Amino acid sequence: MKLSGQRIIVASNRVPYNIVKSKSGIKYKKSVGGLVTAVDPILSRNGGLWIGWNGSKGHDRDFEKRIEVGREKGKVGYALKFISLSSTEIKNYYHGFSNRSLWPLFHGFICQSHFDKDYWRFYRKINNRFANNILEEVTGGELIWIHDYQLFLTPEALREQSDRDLKILFFLHIPFPNYESFRVLPWDDQILRGLLGSDLIGFQTQRCAFNFLECCKKILKLDVDFKSKKIFYGDRKVEAGGFPISIDFNHFDNMAGSKKTDRYLKRIKSFGGEARVVMSVERLDYTKGIKERLSAINRFFEKYPEYRKKVVFLQISVPSRTKIKEYIELKKEIDELVGNINGRFADELWSPVHYLYKALPQEKLAALYRISDVCMVTPLRDGMNLIGKEYASCKADGDGVLILSELAGSADELSDYSIMVNPYDIEEVADSLHRALCMDLNERKMMMSGLRNIVRKNDIYKWASKFLDYYNNII
Ligand code: UDP
Ligand code: G6P
Repeated sequence: MKLSGQRIIVASNRVPYNIVKSKSGIKYKKSVGGLVTAVDPILSRNGGLWIGWNGSKGHDRDFEKRIEVGREKGKVGYALKFISLSSTEIKNYYHGFSNRSLWPLFHGFICQSHFDKDYWRFYRKINNRFANNILEEVTGGELIWIHDYQLFLTPEALREQSDRDLKILFFLHIPFPNYESFRVLPWDDQILRGLLGSDLIGFQTQRCAFNFLECCKKILKLDVDFKSKKIFYGDRKVEAGGFPISIDFNHFDNMAGSKKTDRYLKRIKSFGGEARVVMSVERLDYTKGIKERLSAINRFFEKYPEYRKKVVFLQISVPSRTKIKEYIELKKEIDELVGNINGRFADELWSPVHYLYKALPQEKLAALYRISDVCMVTPLRDGMNLIGKEYASCKADGDGVLILSELAGSADELSDYSIMVNPYDIEEVADSLHRALCMDLNERKMMMSGLRNIVRKNDIYKWASKFLDYYNNII
């Protein structure tokens, strides 16, 4: 697959491999998150360069090295260029503006947003550093593809720092809030101008694209055509649109049937004993609705005592942004909730909640998807959420039920074949789990086959071609 015939430079805050230094040398550890899962297969097949932070503190000679990754299974692979951040930069740009100002605001947690002028100062500084690093690689004609909220100012910085006619695309992986929420941000106009350095801006849903257009009209007083989703910005036209992101369906489908996954399945064969398995997995993040889901699990065992000893709930929470106060507090609350549920219902041979606080490689996740009768994806707000798509891709036997939040971006595509819930409605979520466990095999298979068809048809390569074709048609 040659996506565009042009060389692609991807930039995102974090590259797909974090550097881990130990006495035995340097190791590259795959990082966890939807952005990496989605974009890595595109570059692996197409080739190109990916620029981003390596996940470590400070600068080191080893960070200057470029590494080639993603060459397995006959793929072309791509190069990584690392960007270093000092501890003060990490504190202000990454923990601060990106994850304490923008992340909560854009997910509807306005009261949790912290606005601080140092956070903002460092955010601008690091966005400029990204622009410099990208420009060092530009020889002419390449597509510069910038990803996510950590780099809103990079498109404009690129245009300011270069006389070339740059081709800049942007994709936002998280939701874009409506005008009333967005205007709360003290630097709202500068964020919009930063993004408008792009030629095409992609969002997860049409609703998010509309929110952005409305902000450009109301805050910057720009001429906006809502029908064609164009913004007239000086002598340039900027386009926006909804492009729901996806995964490599075949990769997950094959992985779920691979020897590695089978070996792991044999090891965990006895997991849950005779009990049916219900699972959830995500980074430990307040947007994911983990506390609310645990309350629903508590209510489920209270309201439907016949399921005690017959169902195990597996909660996998991946450590994430562990230096940030809100995340540290959330971890404590979740530990406590798990303890309370187990303390209340467990007996000598059975515990209702099996809780892992660690990241698993995707081969293991695939095995857990396979053994799970139900997968609960109940974020309070999510740009897309790839877990439901992965669950469906790993269910070649067609048997499994997805419980999905109305507030996840993936609800737009998957709602017809999932049990839809409002994640804040504890009673409804508990009842939905009961409903999922009561479904007969025919209904389960019909639902799962619907999900698999949607994900198979709209995989990540389709997404990339749609986005890049759209761009090629507008220039
Ligand atoms: N993931 C993983 N190991 C884990 C848990 C999650 O590799 O132990 C991956 C998962 O397969 C998915 C991604 O992390 O591809 C999470 O993406 P999603 O869009 O659901 O959420 P995000 O973390 O981007 O908010
Ligand atoms: C979400 C964001 C990504 C981010 C990922 C992991 O998917 O959209 O930009 O990389 O979470 O978060 P982290 O802060 O560890 O990079």
